[in-house]
Amino acid sequence: MAERYLDTIFNDDVIKRIGAVPGESVDLIIADPPYCLGKDYGNDSDKLRPADYLAWSYSWIDAVLPTLKDSGSFYLFLTWQYSPEIFSYIKKRLLMINEIIWDRRVPSMGGSVRSYSSVHDTIGFFAKTRRYYFDLDSVRIPYDPDTKKARARARFAGAKWLELGCNPKDLWSVPRLHRQDAEREAHPTQKPLKIIDRMVTASCPPGGVVLDPFMGSGTTAVSCRRHGRHYVGFELNSAYCALIDERLRRAAGC
Ligand SMILES: C[S@@+](CC[C@H](N)C(=O)[O-])C[C@H]1O[C@@H](n2cnc3c(N)ncnc32)[C@H](O)[C@@H]1O
Repeated sequence: MAERYLDTIFNDDVIKRIGAVPGESVDLIIADPPYCLGKDYGNDSDKLRPADYLAWSYSWIDAVLPTLKDSGSFYLFLTWQYSPEIFSYIKKRLLMINEIIWDRRVPSMGGSVRSYSSVHDTIGFFAKTRRYYFDLDSVRIPYDPDTKKARARARFAGAKWLELGCNPKDLWSVPRLHRQDAEREAHPTQKPLKIIDRMVTASCPPGGVVLDPFMGSGTTAVSCRRHGRHYVGFELNSAYCALIDERLRRAAGC
C-alpha cells in the first residue's frame, strides 16, 4: 500500500524521503531553504561552504521537480548571494515567470558602512509549462475608495482592475515578523502568512496540493489549512515538527 503523504510533514531529510510524494502529483512547490548564512536551525543545514551549498541546492531541486504537475509552479526564496547561479540552473528545466523582490520593510537604523544595507529577499517564480495555473482574481489588491474615485474616468468604467483591484506587482512590501508579532513562532526565519497566502491562492487550485521541502515553523501548512489546499512537507528538526502540529491545532481552533 502507498504511504500516506497528503497533509503530512515528514520529520526527515527531503532528499532522502521525497519518494513518498508521487511523481507529477503536486500543483505548487514553495521552497524556503537555508540561505547559506550560518543560521542555527538546530542542525548544520545552513553551515555549508559556498561550493557545497550550490551542489546541495542543485540536488534537492533535482529531487523535488519530478513531483510537479504540468500545470504546476515553483516559488523559491533566496538571497542575492546565490540566486544568480540557482535561478540559472532552474531555467534549464522550467520557465521563469518572475523575479519577486520581498522588501522586508527593515527600518533605517545605521546598517552597513562598506556596502548598501540589504533589506530584501529574492523569490524566483517558475512554471513547468505555459499552461500553469494562475488565479489572478484571488490576489488582486482592492483600491481604497479615494484611489478608486480618482481613477474612475469614463473610459475605465466597469474595468475589472478598477472593480476587483489591481494585480500585485513584483515588489512585495510586507514587514518581516517581529519578536512581538502575534503571528511569530519560535523559528528564526519564519515567513509571514501574508506572503505565503498569496502564493497558495494564486498558484494552487482549491483542493490542490502544495509541497514545501523545508517546512520550518509550518507557515505553508497553516496557509493551506486556511485556504482549503492539501500540503506535504519535510523538516529535519523534530522540535519544529512539534511546533507545526501545535500551529495546525491552533489554526483548526482545537
Ligand atoms: C528557512 S527555514 C524555513 C522557514 C519556513 N518557511 C517558515 O515560514 O517557518 C529552512 C528550514 O529547513 C530545514 N531543513 C534544512 N535542511 C533540510 C533538509 N535537507 N530536509 C528537510 N528540512 C531541512 C531547517 O531545519 C529549517 O527549519
